[in-house]
Amino acid sequence: MGADAHVTALLAAAVCACTSAHRPEAAHVADAASSGASSSDAAVAPRDALATFHYQEAPFADDPSNRFASDAGARKLGQSLFFDRAFSGPLIEGDNDGKGGTLGQSGDPGRVSCADCHVPATAFVDTRSPHGQISLAAQWTRRRAPTLLESGGLSLYDWDGRRDSIWGQAIGVMESDREFNSGRLFVAEQMFRLHRAEYEAVFGPMPALDDATRFPALTPDQAGCREVATRSGPTYPCRGKPSDGADYDGMAPADQQAATVVMVNAGKAMAAYVALLRCGPGRFDAWLDGNDAALSPSEQRGAGLFAGKGKCVSCHAGPDFTDGAFHDVGLSPATVAVAFIDSGDNGAADGVAAALADPMNTAGPFSDGDRHALPAGVDPAMLGAFRTPTLRCIATQPSFMHTGQLRSLDEVVAFHDRGGDPAGGYPGTNELSPLGLTAGECADIVAFLVALDGAGPPDSLRGPPD
Ligand code: HEC
Ligand code: HEC
Repeated sequence: MGADAHVTALLAAAVCACTSAHRPEAAHVADAASSGASSSDAAVAPRDALATFHYQEAPFADDPSNRFASDAGARKLGQSLFFDRAFSGPLIEGDNDGKGGTLGQSGDPGRVSCADCHVPATAFVDTRSPHGQISLAAQWTRRRAPTLLESGGLSLYDWDGRRDSIWGQAIGVMESDREFNSGRLFVAEQMFRLHRAEYEAVFGPMPALDDATRFPALTPDQAGCREVATRSGPTYPCRGKPSDGADYDGMAPADQQAATVVMVNAGKAMAAYVALLRCGPGRFDAWLDGNDAALSPSEQRGAGLFAGKGKCVSCHAGPDFTDGAFHDVGLSPATVAVAFIDSGDNGAADGVAAALADPMNTAGPFSDGDRHALPAGVDPAMLGAFRTPTLRCIATQPSFMHTGQLRSLDEVVAFHDRGGDPAGGYPGTNELSPLGLTAGECADIVAFLVALDGAGPPDSLRGPPD
């Protein structure tokens, strides 16, 4: 195919797919449906086909890697830590100018908490960062912050399976120079300074973290990494974590271990709280229970298409609408936020390999038991593949996909309809193929996705504990 023919083919594909150019027609079809008219080319789903998608209200099974997972004191401590900015080191990225959605100015310490990227009012996704796509804390994150609702039911965490537990993810955040930009020594010292009594009530006596001869005392602006300009470009010397060549590396091994355990326990407390965050049932579940009026005709047709012609259920399956597996959907990297095009992202091929090698995984010495969530090795199909996201409570997100490059559910459904991006995407092989949905069918699927919204967690879990 010549270059011109290729462009023509692309244009044709764009016009045929249910793109937003079809919105007026789509809205018309949806309106007609909700006023009782029927659409000839969409079948209403038999409820039976979707019975296994019913929301499960029972609490998730306890995480064997965290023996504090259902401890009331750990949950309460984790809830307060989730909203506490006292563990973060200085902001690094110069885009932190103190304005519009940033957390302060470059150099400011103590500005970042979990809740700054997982905003409780919006399903624990990031509606705070500038541009509403990837997150800006110490630096820009590499991917979009997923919802934390229902994360207690996942087996592997992050878009690429980089972690196999929530606590492992929490401690990764603390030591990441993009997120908290902190380290285990400072985290342990802050736990001792600020949360000693609650900590000891759950985890037992703390080491003498106020003994500066054993644990060099770090101030907030000394924690984590900072940018130092050199002739060959910036470097990022760090303090208070392994390989810092400074405070942490100079400590006795037993004290390094003791500080690490305090950070891990802080992560386990946070995980005990995060696992309580649920979306709750939506109108879809009421419909499954037999309440016909719970879904409009358009939403019911959307349910049928989701299970049928749309083939969505081959990946978005089960009560949380995810198979927990990694798929390549041929997303073509695009500019998000300021200037991010992460075209070299190998997805789960790198993420799962890193998780397998991670001493903080649930098979490692800091775990209370192996979750057995990690595969034995990396499957070649993981190249360029990302985890199927949950679709529960999806409607309030500002952006979609791991990059945040799609800005509405209409765009996401149009993307799946055209079988991913024709120009090719990440490394790996696209598993999608075009669906040939009409504009009305796409609108029905979008309507159905909105009906998966639930009430979310109670107010008592949306802020620090009383
Ligand atoms: C700077 C923004 C930011 C902050 C702060 C942050 N997160 Fe996240 N979080 C993210 C991003 C981005 C991802 C996805 C990372 C990836 O896939 O590469 C993520 C992923 C997660 C996940 C995995 C969810 C899933 O569906 O796999 C959990 C759990 C989580 N974060 C919990 C926390 C906790 C607990 C804290 C506080 C210790 C925290 N996060 C702080 C941005 C943030
Ligand atoms: C081959 C597996 C597969 C199929 C089939 C599939 N999806 Fe997806 N879907 C994914 C993956 C994987 C992602 C995330 C990809 C990424 O971020 O790179 C995704 C992302 C999404 C998102 C965005 C969620 C978010 O939080 O960003 C929505 C909405 C969605 N899919 C709906 C659908 C619908 C509707 C269908 C059917 C028309 C469908 N999917 C079919 C695998 C699939």
